[in-house]
Amino acid sequence: MARYTVVTMPGDGIGGQVVPEAIRVLRAVGFEANYVPADIGWEFWRSEGNALPDRTIDLLTKHKLGLFGAITSKPKKDAEAELGSTQRGKGYVYYSPIVTMRQRFNLDICVRPCVGFPGNPLNYIRKKSDGGFEEPNINTTVFRQNTEGLYCGIEWTNPPDLVRGALDSHPKFKNFANIPGKDLAVSVRIITRLAAQRIVIAAFEFAKKKGFKAVTICEKPNVVRETSGMMEEVAKEIQRTRFPEIELWRNNIDAQLMWLNKNPENFNVIVASNLFGDILSDAIAGLVGGLGFAASGNIGDDVAVFEPTHGSAPKYAALDPPIVNPTATILAGAMLVEHVGEYDRAKKIWDAVGAVVKQGRVRTYDMMRLIGGPKVLQQGAASTYQMTDAIIGELARST
Ligand code: NAI
Ligand code: MG
Repeated sequence: MARYTVVTMPGDGIGGQVVPEAIRVLRAVGFEANYVPADIGWEFWRSEGNALPDRTIDLLTKHKLGLFGAITSKPKKDAEAELGSTQRGKGYVYYSPIVTMRQRFNLDICVRPCVGFPGNPLNYIRKKSDGGFEEPNINTTVFRQNTEGLYCGIEWTNPPDLVRGALDSHPKFKNFANIPGKDLAVSVRIITRLAAQRIVIAAFEFAKKKGFKAVTICEKPNVVRETSGMMEEVAKEIQRTRFPEIELWRNNIDAQLMWLNKNPENFNVIVASNLFGDILSDAIAGLVGGLGFAASGNIGDDVAVFEPTHGSAPKYAALDPPIVNPTATILAGAMLVEHVGEYDRAKKIWDAVGAVVKQGRVRTYDMMRLIGGPKVLQQGAASTYQMTDAIIGELARST
């Protein structure tokens, strides 16, 4: 019997193209697992008014490990308009299933490694003062608080009277006191001390394990005093009491993005609240190959779900053969394998990807900076399948 059961949730668009490729790689590396497909995404919103059906929650509750592709999300009104005719008018509200999943299972630790593979033509390069160029070695992992902050979903346009009353009690609300409800949108940013501690500890433990000398906390406490203030306060406390051997660097989110443009190689571990962490990880992903290489883990005490950070890329979803880069999902698979403690197999996958990138013979269209479309295959780009085949070929050579 296989040791693990992985709940696979391809979801929408290219999610259905890349998840099977990651499974092929997991099989090729000898990861002993059963794969149980589960329903998620737009189709189920339209037919059931729920993009994350209870049966999928049950499977995750039971098996604890998930591999997710991508979903299509649309604004509230557009989502309502696309509900199937039998589901309309029943009061269903669209919520992103991946955000719901993170909250439902308290997958509060989001880990996003952004590691440059030498030889990737998409890697960040920098002009030197003598006119030449250099390609620094970027190895940054973002720890994003995954369940709170601006993603807690507590928001209103036209807030109810009780909320309006509470806002009125704050002196700074005077500036908004005369705005009619329909013209007033409010999204609440919540940070709790326990969640802040958990993400900060996860970042420090990672830095310790990997031998990195510093963790950077990235917030904006000079302006967002309470919530960013608590994140920083917790980070200082944890560093002082539990990880004195590791430095704590503090950068405001805006300055951090500037530093990432200048000296990305200086930052190995960054910790941030939900939205800031999301922005940071996409920004760094852009320096090491873009969305085709960006993998992510959503980790709770009980359940963990791994995914590429990209979305469903609907414009490429219908292409046959598919052209999108499966690497992000393959690396998400490697993170899953590492999460259950199979470090050697995880490393083999990372190394195989590294070897394929370095050789440069097989490259998907994004790596060639082509504009996506069916023509890219004639232009020399590898299909999704060919990219996976090359990675599996490397695995076979190394094992
Ligand atoms: P997206 O990530 O789906 O695509 C943006 C662009 O990135 C694509 O057009 C393509 O050029 C490139 N790209 C993405 N994945 C790629 C890959 N594997 N290989 C090569 N190139 C790749 O983001 P977009 O267009 O903003 O959103 C499309 C849909 O996906 C929306 O409905 C959005 O809500 C949803 N989304 C879902 C996410 C998730 O499931 N976690 C995350 C982000 C967006
Ligand atoms: Mg994102």
